[in-house]
Amino acid sequence: MLLNKRRREAEKEKRQGMRQAGRFNAQLMDHIRPMILPGISTGHIDRIIHDYTLDHGHIPACLNYQGYPKSCCTSVNEVICHGIPSDDVLREGDIVNVDLTSIVNGWHGDQSESFLIGHVSDQARAVVQCAFDCLYAAIDAIKPNCRASDIGTAIVRIAHERGFSVVKDYVGHGVGRKFHQDPTISHIPTPEGRRQRLYPGVTFTIEPMINVGVRDGVQDEADGWTVRTKDGKLSAQFEHTIMMNQDGPEILTLTKNGPQKGHQF
Ligand code: MF3
Ligand code: CO
Ligand code: CO
Repeated sequence: MLLNKRRREAEKEKRQGMRQAGRFNAQLMDHIRPMILPGISTGHIDRIIHDYTLDHGHIPACLNYQGYPKSCCTSVNEVICHGIPSDDVLREGDIVNVDLTSIVNGWHGDQSESFLIGHVSDQARAVVQCAFDCLYAAIDAIKPNCRASDIGTAIVRIAHERGFSVVKDYVGHGVGRKFHQDPTISHIPTPEGRRQRLYPGVTFTIEPMINVGVRDGVQDEADGWTVRTKDGKLSAQFEHTIMMNQDGPEILTLTKNGPQKGHQF
């Protein structure tokens, strides 16, 4: 009896903690979105993220995470993920994914968006649109106690229909007191995903990386982080932190001013 009560209280604390972390992270995304324009360096975006997070009494989760040197990831054009902010300037025609994670009272909020810098090619726009549509198709496909592989099934269907590939080697993840925890959320269907159920209370990310060409990536040997497409073609990504509730998924990192479900880029 007492144990059940304690468990319920812990669940409630988790729900509140994760909602708060997601809300702050989304507010941070709203803060930086207007600044992502031609001429800004990714390092400048990183400093704004770092300072805003500290000014609000929170912690950038990426900073020093397994030795990572910055407070966010900025992945430009052919970079699939984990691009390190630098003095490099965003230019008209680029696409850039900005991936933000904050720790708020010990809980993590994790999300990313891809941005079009000025006018971009039709192909750049299409791959960004596809990554966005894949994320929402996956959210629409899940319900309490469904299989984690329902996510990958929904994503692969859309991406392949449009002639794009889905990155296999980088995945979504459980998120909570830890940045990366169980379950693994693959963006393609896998045997492990077919065994894994998304029960009410689980908090996790969905973060499909969609490539114009091959799905494989190569990690930069010099910096140990940056992952580029093997063929040098474009890659785009969107990410939300999700909580599975009794009545379906809740997006914890939804922004007020960012692209909403159905958005056309
Ligand atoms: N935010 C990324 C994710 O979605 C992880 C970045 S880890 C870092 O899981 F160390 F590169 F920041
Ligand atoms: Co993530
Ligand atoms: Co992330």
